[in-house]
Amino acid sequence: MASERSRVLSGIQPSAGSFHLGNYLGAVRQWVALQDTHDAFYMLADLHAITVPQAPADLRANTRLAAAQILGAGLDPERCTLFVQSHVPEHAELGWVMNCLTGFGEAARMTQFKDKSAKQGTEGTSVGLFTYPVLQVADILLYQAHQVPVGEDQRQHIELTRDLAERFNGRYGETFTVPDAYILKETAKIYDLQEPANKMSKSASSVKGLINLMDEPKVTAKKVKSAVTDTDTVVRYDPVGKPGVSNLLGIYSNLTGASIAELEQKYDGKMYGALKTDLAEVVVDFVTPFRARTQEYLDDPETLDSILAKGAEKARTVAAETLAQVYDKVGFLPAKR
Ligand code: TYM
Repeated sequence: MASERSRVLSGIQPSAGSFHLGNYLGAVRQWVALQDTHDAFYMLADLHAITVPQAPADLRANTRLAAAQILGAGLDPERCTLFVQSHVPEHAELGWVMNCLTGFGEAARMTQFKDKSAKQGTEGTSVGLFTYPVLQVADILLYQAHQVPVGEDQRQHIELTRDLAERFNGRYGETFTVPDAYILKETAKIYDLQEPANKMSKSASSVKGLINLMDEPKVTAKKVKSAVTDTDTVVRYDPVGKPGVSNLLGIYSNLTGASIAELEQKYDGKMYGALKTDLAEVVVDFVTPFRARTQEYLDDPETLDSILAKGAEKARTVAAETLAQVYDKVGFLPAKR
């Protein structure tokens, strides 16, 4: 029975339009696997998206696009709960309580905030961006999640979640499950194809190193073939000495299931060009059916919206129960009905 399984919760911002390969390998692929073994809740984090400016029509379209991509990746709404964060008002409500439990210095230490605010500049940085990790804490705690499947860049936010859950439990009595990060070593961090020292990111300075899953496969193949490698010629996994080649091998291994050792052997004595040509084909073979499945959902917005409506209803039942406990524990006077 679903309720006897341990619970996972995760989320993705719907702001970028297309997911990139890092989102898929680092997170969404695990979500799909976990729906069979866990009681899984997955969320389109639109409240998080507006921490930086969004054109309203784009945000709405991108939220549907994100839902379609998650389903296109293999998530089954019958086996998990897929919902839009703003459809469940308890996120913002618990977020406020958690804000009041977080130290200012503690929030200021979040590296994602520091990176993102550096890009926005002081005047362009909203207070929402500053408190966004705390909203993420609320996202997780509302569902009493045991595990949170994410990429490496989210680890610090899960640490914050654990700290705040323990703080709340210590102050008000046992209330929250203290969650663990679920981060797979092989896919924790996928790197930019042009700047392999940096993680693949939607906010990269150039799109050349970014594999967007919804791009035309031709464009994607070209990006793989133009990936930065090194002046050596040996195909060997060495993330420090050969970050570009190692990233390509990692992606190849993750998409095909071949081990790194098998791939090193396969390309022994061959040049980087052969590796890139084959990997371009592997990536195209992955994105082509993914795009087709995603397009099917996009072509049927009514079905998509009703999946999200059902998901929100299921999510709210759980979230409302947790929030009611929290409101009681902190001493809010119940509203007379
Ligand atoms: P977001 O939308 O930036 O990214 C979604 C997921 O993709 C992972 N990821 C990567 N993994 C490996 N390599 C990469 N290059 C790479 N780039 C992105 C991220 O680690 C993430 O798992 N704050 C979150 C969304 C969120 C959330 C939550 C997550 C909101 N509430 C509650 C978990 C639980 C974010 O901005 O992810």
